[in-house]
Amino acid sequence: MKYTFNFKLILSVCLCAFLAASCVKEGPMGPPGEDGADGADGRDGVDGNVTCLVCHASDNIESINAEFAMSGHFSGEKAVAYAGSRQGCAECHSHEGFVQYAEFGEVMGDITNPSAWQCNTCHGIHETFEGEDYALRLNDPVSAVYLEDIDASATMDLIGNNNLCATCHQTRTPEPNLETPGEETFNIGSSHYGPHHGPQANIVLGVGFAEIDGTANYPEQGSSYHYNEDASCIGCHMGEYENGGGHTWKANLDACIDCHGSDMDDFNYGNGQALVEAELNKLRDKLLELGVVAGDEENGYHPVTGEYPMLQAQAYFNWIGLVEDRSLGAHNPKYVKALLANTIEALEANE
Ligand code: HEC
Ligand code: HEC
Ligand code: HEC
Ligand code: HEC
Ligand code: HEC
Ligand code: HEC
Repeated sequence: MKYTFNFKLILSVCLCAFLAASCVKEGPMGPPGEDGADGADGRDGVDGNVTCLVCHASDNIESINAEFAMSGHFSGEKAVAYAGSRQGCAECHSHEGFVQYAEFGEVMGDITNPSAWQCNTCHGIHETFEGEDYALRLNDPVSAVYLEDIDASATMDLIGNNNLCATCHQTRTPEPNLETPGEETFNIGSSHYGPHHGPQANIVLGVGFAEIDGTANYPEQGSSYHYNEDASCIGCHMGEYENGGGHTWKANLDACIDCHGSDMDDFNYGNGQALVEAELNKLRDKLLELGVVAGDEENGYHPVTGEYPMLQAQAYFNWIGLVEDRSLGAHNPKYVKALLANTIEALEANE
């Protein structure tokens, strides 16, 4: 629209100049002709007061600020100091790193003075200013980091804006038998070995863990009732702030209640979390017995580096990943239960 207008303007300026130059010797110009008919009306503008204020009203922004101040993203306590400046970690560990990743597709170098999350870590610039345009920097399906060295084009789709969360909250390492397929043993080479501390997107989708054979069936990828528009990262961790949620990103009990009925006063629906916790402890005790894991409740547990039968390395990978997911099964009850049942069953069969 603007271009056409300017183009016409330039055209008429040139035309006038041309006419002025070529008609210099002629008599004075006649009176201007009548105005032309009005053009068609333009498209209606968005009603600024209604649409913009839905989100930009000052009390809404103030309560979001207050919620944000309670969140782990805001403090960045664990994330930023250790890994926020390093080029290989910063895409998920600092404001600067994530913004570079979102804008350029990579982190350009080490970051001198990294910061924790801010509003414009996740929010960039509006595209339409309408409806559900939250001006989020990323919401396309994410590249599956754990498959980077195996199939660099592999993606995971956590549904719309949840992909923002999945950019960071995903596993970084293929499970042992995917990293070195068919080998009888696997070397746990570092005390940090595992899928990485935030594997939540993989669990919700149901992909990327060691699917050891056994009596339990693994549900199809993306078939969980918690992989859904409403039961999603944003559905369960955001929404109206009250029982968690909003910009605290604490799991929101009201979201569970909306689907599961009003008789829930914690996340342990149907005793699900307690059962998963018990199975995780059972698996840990087996890994302690086998010497794959050392430590105790008080000082924490860590893997003992060394060469292990493939099954034991896979069992370790599943255990540490499911512990670090920290939802105790809530992210995908069927997938988590199947992983635990088959892992424990296979270890027992080898005793
Ligand atoms: C669905 C919610 C929503 C609506 C509706 C909305 N905004 Fe925003 N807007 C945001 C969020 C979220 C941010 C980023 C956080 C912040 O800066 O407060 C933002 C940022 C902005 C910014 C600063 C960043 C930028 O994009 O340059 C401007 C300016 C802005 N909005 C203008 C508007 C105007 C004008 C309208 C109405 C036409 C509007 N917004 C409607 C949510 C909304
Ligand atoms: C740029 C990467 C990144 C993005 C994007 C991101 N997170 Fe995080 N998130 C992290 C890191 C790193 C931590 C650990 C922060 C710390 O404790 O220092 C974290 C912490 C959390 C926690 C624990 C918070 C607490 O209070 O201890 C929750 C829950 C969470 N994120 C959910 C989400 C959800 C939901 C989204 C999407 C709306 C999201 N995250 C987007 C990287 C990210
Ligand atoms: C693909 C995203 C991603 C990358 C890349 C990444 N991390 Fe993380 N990391 C996370 C997320 C997300 C969390 C927080 C998870 C949570 O709170 O559940 C985290 C947590 C951590 C923690 C905290 C553990 C704790 O709870 O105390 C450490 C340490 C860490 N990462 C180290 C690193 C290092 C070192 C690198 C680079 C070599 C790195 N990370 C690269 C996503 C990533
Ligand atoms: C970790 C990423 C992240 C950060 C940091 C973040 N937001 Fe948001 N914000 C989101 C997501 C995701 C949504 C919801 C999108 C949806 O519902 O699909 C959202 C929604 C919003 C909305 C519209 C919904 C509402 O509740 O009115 C506003 C306004 C907003 N954010 C402002 C802010 C402000 C202001 C800050 C800083 C104090 C901030 N955001 C920080 C991810 C983030
Ligand atoms: C079905 C609802 C649901 C969905 C879907 C969901 N979460 Fe959760 N999430 C939970 C519950 C419940 C917990 C455990 C909270 C507790 O026990 O205090 C949790 C725990 C977490 C934690 C650890 C928080 C902490 O403070 O220890 C992170 C990080 C997290 N979720 C991120 C995500 C991300 C990222 C997604 C999307 C990939 C997601 N969640 C999807 C319900 C959900
Ligand atoms: C969008 C709706 C929805 C939301 C939100 C939701 N769930 Fe679910 N959830 C379901 C459905 C449907 C099922 C399968 C039917 C059933 O077991 O009730 C299910 C199953 C479960 C199961 C497995 C039950 C079993 O015996 O196998 C657990 C545990 C669970 N949900 C916990 C939670 C928690 C905790 C939250 C909140 C953090 C939550 N759900 C949020 C829809 C939802």
